[in-house]
Amino acid sequence: MMTSAVRHVQGRKVAELLGEWTAGAAASSQQLHRALRRLVLDGVLAPATRLPAERDLASSLGVSRTLVVRALELLREDDLVASRRGAGSWITVPSGGDGEGAVTGLFGPSGEGALNMAQATPCAPPELDDALDRARPRFAELYPGSGYDPRGLLRLRERLAERFTRRGLPTGPHQILVTSGAQHAFSLTLRALVAPGERVLVEHPTYPNALEAVRGLRASTVGVPMVDGSWDLDAVEATLRQAAPRLAYLIPDFQNPTGARLDEAGRQRLGTALRRNGTSAVVDETLVDMDLDGVAQPLPMAAFAEERVITVGSASKSFWGGLRIGWVRASEDILQRIAATRVAGDLGTPVLEQVVFAELLADADTVLGRRREKMRARRDRLVELLGTHCPEWRFQVPRGGLSLWCDLGVPVGGKLAVIAEQHGVHIGSGMHFAAHGNLERFLRLPYTLPPEQLEDGVARLARARDALRSGVSSVEFPVM
Ligand SMILES: Cc1ncc(COP(=O)(O)O)c(C=O)c1O
Repeated sequence: MMTSAVRHVQGRKVAELLGEWTAGAAASSQQLHRALRRLVLDGVLAPATRLPAERDLASSLGVSRTLVVRALELLREDDLVASRRGAGSWITVPSGGDGEGAVTGLFGPSGEGALNMAQATPCAPPELDDALDRARPRFAELYPGSGYDPRGLLRLRERLAERFTRRGLPTGPHQILVTSGAQHAFSLTLRALVAPGERVLVEHPTYPNALEAVRGLRASTVGVPMVDGSWDLDAVEATLRQAAPRLAYLIPDFQNPTGARLDEAGRQRLGTALRRNGTSAVVDETLVDMDLDGVAQPLPMAAFAEERVITVGSASKSFWGGLRIGWVRASEDILQRIAATRVAGDLGTPVLEQVVFAELLADADTVLGRRREKMRARRDRLVELLGTHCPEWRFQVPRGGLSLWCDLGVPVGGKLAVIAEQHGVHIGSGMHFAAHGNLERFLRLPYTLPPEQLEDGVARLARARDALRSGVSSVEFPVM
């Protein structure tokens, strides 16, 4: 748990963020609690933000100090706020928060029986047990030495390089650096290549924690909207030319959250634009193995602009997020810069996990085949359930990835998320994925949960949608 604050927010700013939080009714501490809770869960009030003094907040909101004190008490009970005498109160990350979106509001609900339909994070495959067994014997003998290696275990780098080569991108182990996940890989690359104040081109919408990493560096994002579930390459080219971003961050394989995949002609064009403008791109391949329909297998993006593309990958979706293993594929020069950046924060990825993952990779085809089959069935089930219970929501069925990007038709994503929580289901509304503005019409729904939980989740969501429509909810919002 966080023990102090790193930024402040004034009472009048909180009032502005809350907007019409009483919806015209007499103010109550419960209402203020719910409204503040939403700001925290939506990531608008970020972890480690110090809240204004109670007196300041009360006067900015035009309510009594007692009401504010009670609302803060309720937030403390939720584990969303911590306080210390003399230091005030600040936003914290709930102790149960983990994984994707942990600091951006996609973390799960804490209530018993609550379902998390915000995180697209599959469970460990059963084959992990065998990989652990295979990793154990003669460990100390096979892995002598200190275990410190910012580049990662050679055996694992060889296996990862082999996988790139098999995909049509010849690669040697010297071109790979093992990290603790793709998020770590991206943030290290960012720190190695981008200075505060510089621009990073991103897709809009995109992966929320990548946005966090750019903002955390005090660099700025330049969003290029995805149009009709695909890349607007004219706009990408124009942005590269006009905004001269220092780096681009792109997810051409089952883009998170839209699920889109860039075809080879698009990759060719993008590669040419990167080369022409001298812009490097981090290409995030976290979801590349989640190719559920296996229709066309474009060459990896790096094959189209080898010298401009830095590829990051991950074990998280293909195998298991708990391994915390990712990697960067780049030129030796760039890897050296990344390795030098890395030592300020960590001195390498744990060896045990690398050994286990290298063992798991020996079984990759079997593990991935089973996972794809399972996720394909879950995707199809979610599509069917939404067709029955929420037929007005629109989405393109993605050929891969782990979630559906739903257009609700009306800008109510945030409201629906709040009411859905009361119905025991946590969802990620569009705003989390927005590089700019808001995407209140959208909702990202992962299909990683088992079918019976998907059924339960969609039934709860449909009830939340009905409550929102009819205004029958304990949360009061202005009429839609
Ligand atoms: C596009 C994308 N990049 C990166 C990550 C983070 O991956 P890791 O768990 O390897 O840090 C995710 C996780 O959801 C993701 O969807």
